[in-house]
Amino acid sequence: MRTPVLETERLILRPLAVSDAQHIFDSWTSCPVVTQYMIFDQHENVQETIDWLTFEQANYDNDHVYTFGLVLKETGELIGSGGLSWEDDCFYIGYILSQNNWYKGFAKEAASRMIEFAKNDLGASKIIGRHANGNAGSEKILHNLGFEFYKDITFSSFGNKKTFDGKLQVLNF
Ligand SMILES: CC(C)(COP(=O)(O)OP(=O)(O)OC[C@H]1O[C@@H](n2cnc3c(N)ncnc32)[C@H](O)[C@@H]1OP(=O)(O)O)[C@@H](O)C(=O)NCCC(=O)NCCS
Repeated sequence: MRTPVLETERLILRPLAVSDAQHIFDSWTSCPVVTQYMIFDQHENVQETIDWLTFEQANYDNDHVYTFGLVLKETGELIGSGGLSWEDDCFYIGYILSQNNWYKGFAKEAASRMIEFAKNDLGASKIIGRHANGNAGSEKILHNLGFEFYKDITFSSFGNKKTFDGKLQVLNF
């Protein structure tokens, strides 16, 4: 299915485009605090964000990749992104917000809508969340959404610059 536009009370979830690159780089992919626990490494220059968004644009029709920009309805600002990506035998969920938008319930709101999409539109029977130990916000969101501890893991970022001890949390439908 082509990545759709979804909606929550305060957010529009829409496909990302290369034209979002400069804003995203300035707002979160270049931020060491925001990217600390992410599976990608902090972007050193805007070209790295362009490369990522080029991948996302090329995968609008990929049934295993759904990435959404999170747009605040009130202001039209792109405040973060979230997604579902297929690994092995199920979708993994992820989310990231620019730091000035933390602690306002946006990640939980977006994740809840993506879970509903996975269940109702993609026919998913389970979703997994992966987080580093110490990423208390991510762990709390997953538990608030009904995820349960699945197993301890060690994982590295795509460029192998960071390695984390962490957890997989699972939500079975
Ligand atoms: C993790 C992240 C997405 C949380 O986003 P958020 O919009 O602030 O989260 P929410 O406001 O929906 O919070 C959900 C719950 O987690 C709690 N929480 C959020 N961040 C927290 C933190 N750093 N430490 C402890 N609790 C936290 C909130 O208080 C809230 O609890 P409540 O439901 O009891 O009120 C955000 O901090 C972020 O973008 N971090 C960097 C990227 C990242 O690590 N992504 C996840 C990778 S696995």
